[in-house]
This record gives sequence, C-alpha cells and structure tokens, in this order.
Amino acid sequence: MFRKDIVASSPGKFILLGEHAVVYGKPAVALAINKRFLCRVQLGEIDALNGMPINPKIHPHISYILKTSGVTNVTIHTQSEIPSSSGLGSSAALCTSLSAAIRAIKGENIDVKDLANDAFNAEYEVQRGASPLDTSCSAFGKGIALNCPKSMGKYIWTAEKERNKWDIFEIPVPKMTFVVGYTGIKAHTGQLVERVRKYKKHNKFATDIVNEIGDVTFEGMDCISKYDVTGLGRAMTKSHKLLSILGVSCRELDKLVSASLKYSYGAKLTGSGGGGSMIALTDKPDKVCETIRLHGGMPFIIKTDVPGVTLE
Ligand code: PMV
Repeated sequence: MFRKDIVASSPGKFILLGEHAVVYGKPAVALAINKRFLCRVQLGEIDALNGMPINPKIHPHISYILKTSGVTNVTIHTQSEIPSSSGLGSSAALCTSLSAAIRAIKGENIDVKDLANDAFNAEYEVQRGASPLDTSCSAFGKGIALNCPKSMGKYIWTAEKERNKWDIFEIPVPKMTFVVGYTGIKAHTGQLVERVRKYKKHNKFATDIVNEIGDVTFEGMDCISKYDVTGLGRAMTKSHKLLSILGVSCRELDKLVSASLKYSYGAKLTGSGGGGSMIALTDKPDKVCETIRLHGGMPFIIKTDVPGVTLE
C-alpha cells in the first residue's frame, strides 16, 4: 500500500580516522553528528525537487535513487543543517533519508541495512568509487567502524564491491569533545577519490601511504578502546600528515589544523579534503573555536552519540 506523505531525516558525520584509505578496504571510524538532513516525499503528478524539475546532472544521487526504486511522480522537499560539500556527509545523509522515505512511501518494512546499502550504491555509482563508511554512519547513527578488530564493536553488515570488502561494526561512541572547523571551500568528493586512484595507479609510493593510513587508523582504534585521548590525538595528527602527502589537503585546512594543535590532543582534515572541514580533539573547545575563527574558518562544537535515520 503506497503512503502519501513521508518525512525522513538522517545525521551528517565526521570521519575520525581512515578516509580515502577506506575506499581500498582499509579500516576507518566515523561518528554521526547533531546536524541532520531532512527529506519530505509526497506522491505528486511529476518528479520535482523543491519545486523544480529533477536534473540528473545536478542531482545525480536523487536521480539514481529514484531510478533504482522504480517510484515515479514524487515531490521531494529537502532541508539541511549540513553544509553541502563540507566533508560532513551531506550527500550520504541525503541518500539515506531519501531511500528511507521512498521505501516507506512504497509501504515497505524498513531494514536499516537496506537503507545503508541503497545509499552506498548511489554514492558508489555517482562518485565512481566510494566506501560504505559515510552511508552506514548516516543510516545507523552513533559510531561506525569498518574493518576494525572484532572486539571493538558489534558486527552489523558486510558490503562488497569489485576487489574490496568492508565489515561494518557499530562501536561505542567515545565520550570526547570534538570541534569542527569548516573552511567554507566546497570539496568535491568524487574528484578527490579519483585523484587518489590515479596517484595510486601510477605511483607505488601512494599505495604505501594508503597502507600507512590504515596502520595509523588501527593505532587510533586501539586508543579509542582504551580511552587514551592523547594517543588518539597523536594518531589523528599523523593521519593528517599522511593525507597531506597523498595530496588531499590544502593550505586552508593545513592552517586550521596547525592553529588548533596548540589547544588540542590532535587535529586532521575530515572527509575528502581539498577544502571542506577539519576536526580537532580537545578539552579546550572554546579556545579551539576562537583560533579557528581567527584563522578564517567557521567553528562549531559537535555533539555525537546521535540516532541514525528516523521516519515520521
Ligand atoms: O567528504 P565526504 O563526507 O564525502 O567523505 C568522503 C570520504 C572518502 O573516504 C574520501 C570517500 C569514501 O567514500 O569513503
């Protein structure tokens, strides 16, 4: 039985450790944040997004999800607290909330794993390569780790694409304080993923860096399990340096990261890089916010331990 009107919402996320390397099956950790993406879907006469026609070139994720769901004549309204292309998972939150609303409008029973999978397929297709990290975090909320030691959390599902396989776990959210600094520069995940792919293809050194990001992520995971804030901060800063060598940082991110380090256990870019946001682990959040502002960034103290997809 089709329903007429559904509202779904999903959280954004930040990647604590492992971005880019996770695309190649390395471990990673992401935490859902208190900024959400809301999607209202109503049965209409034509497909429309916020009162405008849906253009596959401008709205590739939405077009992909509608096409694969087989649902037509829907009116979609979106509202987001997550700045787009900021490295904070706005496209993953769009994909999970839209998938939830579309499945609900078809009258299906919702299994969160299916939403994580729908959203992952959309990102994989549109970005031409992705990991299921952002989309699983947005679907399940709380804390998500991929390819982590089994003792770290509760296994939820496995995703596979070509030669890569990711075991996805829900993990206890570390009770630590994080500050995000947004550069205000739009980051293009697909282009950055492609840049790393090309770099890896032509240069063995890039594969070594990806492997090292994986090793540092394991070190950081161990620190999370032991509640070792100093060790986790150290792993974050190391990860930033490796991501920088991989070519996905930029001057603005480096500036915010180094400025924050004065008042933090560690800091790094978060998400695809090339602009977007950085994250600092600190017990002096006000000082970090001030320094981020002074260096041209937009700071906010993030709340974690938030729920995944919700439906009304
Ligand atoms: O910038 P975001 O929020 O799209 O995060 C991208 C994370 C990557 O590891 C670079 C890609 C991925 O799909 O995991």
